[in-house]
Amino acid sequence: MDAAEKAARKAHQDELKQAAAEKALDWLTPGKVVGVGSGSTVAFFIEALGRRRKDFPQAVSSSLRSTELLREAGIEVLDLNQIDEIDCYVDGADEVDPGFALIKGGGGALTREKIVAQASRHFVCIVDESKYVPVLGQFPLPVEVVPMAMHLVGRQLEKLGGTVRERAGYITDNGNPILDVSGLQISDPVALEETINQWPGVVTNGIFARRRPETVLIAGMHGVQALGKDKA
Ligand code: A5P
Repeated sequence: MDAAEKAARKAHQDELKQAAAEKALDWLTPGKVVGVGSGSTVAFFIEALGRRRKDFPQAVSSSLRSTELLREAGIEVLDLNQIDEIDCYVDGADEVDPGFALIKGGGGALTREKIVAQASRHFVCIVDESKYVPVLGQFPLPVEVVPMAMHLVGRQLEKLGGTVRERAGYITDNGNPILDVSGLQISDPVALEETINQWPGVVTNGIFARRRPETVLIAGMHGVQALGKDKA
């Protein structure tokens, strides 16, 4: 693919991301605190939220980058400890399977994303159609680890049959490295999420199956398809 083709492909994907992001506004209730994920699709969502900041003046953020974008958009960012429950959480994903289990963490924000998702009543996942897959695992699974446990956890991940790489030059908002595991076929996402979570030294793994979205908005050539629960 040459540079022009690459640019055209990215522009098309950005249009789809933006369409999914804007559709997510329909799931929000004016006046309620919004949970905000991270990544390039969410950046479009924050832009859209900014245009509606009178209706949605407050948010809880899942990363330092999203916090910065929210503040630039004129939205107040609350600490999760200040509130009991978030009405709706909107976030992207790296992969979505037909049962709505996800791989997340391509942008490294998986730990805070999982926390904010857990604190939310409704989770709306926004993706372009390239993210919808029959089985999770084509996208390398991110695992955030405590630095001293990196090799220990890496060896355990290899025993699952994956190829493990430390994400080069990257440290999460929580000060930890990430291991990216490729070559896994994740046919039972809940079981694998729970198994990896139990290993000492693992902070979070990027499978979102135990707390998965209620709604997935998939943008494609023919518009945005809403799967799962409608707005409650
Ligand atoms: C951030 O850590 C991720 O979980 C993102 O939600 C995911 O990587 C999707 O990002 P894009 O919207 O940039 O594809």
